Amino acid sequence: MEALVCKKLGDPTALKSSISEADNDSPIILSKTQPIPQLTTPTSVRVRVKATSLNYANYLQILGKYQEKPPLPFIPGSDYSGIVDAVGPGVSLLKVGDRVCSFAGLGSFAEFLVAEQDELFKVPDGCDLVAAGALPVAFGTSHVALVHRAQLTSGQVLLVLGAAGGVGLSAVQIGKVCGAVVIAVARGDEKVQFLKTLGVDHVVDSSKESVISSVKDFLKARKLKGVDVLYDPVGGKLTKESMKLLNWGAQILVIGFASGEVPHIPANIALVKNWTVHGLYWGSYRIHRPVVLEDSIRELLSWVAKGRITICISHTYSLSEASLAFAAIKDRKAIGKVMIAFDNERSVKSKL
Ligand SMILES: NC(=O)c1ccc[n+]([C@@H]2O[C@H](COP(=O)([O-])OP(=O)(O)OC[C@H]3O[C@@H](n4cnc5c(N)ncnc54)[C@H](OP(=O)(O)O)[C@@H]3O)[C@@H](O)[C@H]2O)c1
Repeated sequence: MEALVCKKLGDPTALKSSISEADNDSPIILSKTQPIPQLTTPTSVRVRVKATSLNYANYLQILGKYQEKPPLPFIPGSDYSGIVDAVGPGVSLLKVGDRVCSFAGLGSFAEFLVAEQDELFKVPDGCDLVAAGALPVAFGTSHVALVHRAQLTSGQVLLVLGAAGGVGLSAVQIGKVCGAVVIAVARGDEKVQFLKTLGVDHVVDSSKESVISSVKDFLKARKLKGVDVLYDPVGGKLTKESMKLLNWGAQILVIGFASGEVPHIPANIALVKNWTVHGLYWGSYRIHRPVVLEDSIRELLSWVAKGRITICISHTYSLSEASLAFAAIKDRKAIGKVMIAFDNERSVKSKL
């Protein structure tokens, strides 16, 4: 089978063309001779992958800058969707031909993957299979953060940083489903216009205006005191500015550091203002609170089927174009998700 293999750490975007089978300079190669994984237990299931999403973490992992550092060589990739291809004799929940999605610690940038039956989620009718491959990590993270941890309620003010990115766009939509007043921060006209089409209450273009004054003007006009929940996948200067907008009793969701800078959240201010700081590592819920994670993905899939949320995909590539896919993430071009899909006829499609 075909798979993308990371054979050394480095920048996968350096090669801005097709990935070959043997390139000594590239950290990633396209292997066409990987063995098709066999069923490992009576309850395991083999999935023929239809689509797999790129998360910022996949990029960091190939760079060697992610918290989890697998031994080399490894097949990167986490969330995916596909069709059940083979089932073990003890599988009762799924059958060959079922549409499923899930996520793995590694290995989804490949044509086939093996998982336990209870790790897979049926993709409901009405939910596009490629889009389902983008749901688990991005929407799962935002759902656990906003619904389970912050318990966001109707009328609360939610401020989302990096709002046009993978996790950001999911947080914006989940915020609207919860009935929150949603303020989004993103850079550039295209992202701002797109966020407005989602019914966001206020969008700040961080390339043109000050986040503090723009949000303060909006809050004043709407007779709102401040921000109740800060969703922060960016860190750095934006976090520092956003803290000036938080209410007494606000909650800060620490999601990631796309800016490359871990923010400093002063404990003395948190004390005086009664803030709650939630560190959130979604993947670790599979080990520590699997039921929370599974319920969350099931609820999200039902929301997609009912049209309550939409999975936005701005770029889709083939496996051999993975370096371009990583470049779209690195260059901050993505609006929503970047995908690698199998059996693609065209190299890059835009659904925007
Ligand atoms: N805690 C968890 O369990 C969890 C789960 C998933 C992701 N994450 C983390 O969340 C962060 C975002 O992930 P993602 O998949 O949403 O990434 P993404 O799609 O690339 O979005 C990141 C967004 O951050 C903004 N940004 C600001 N400064 C940036 C910079 N210097 N470089 C790149 N982007 C910058 C960009 O928006 P503008 O260009 O509009 O500013 C971009 O849209 C990552 O740090 C990731 O590791 C954490």
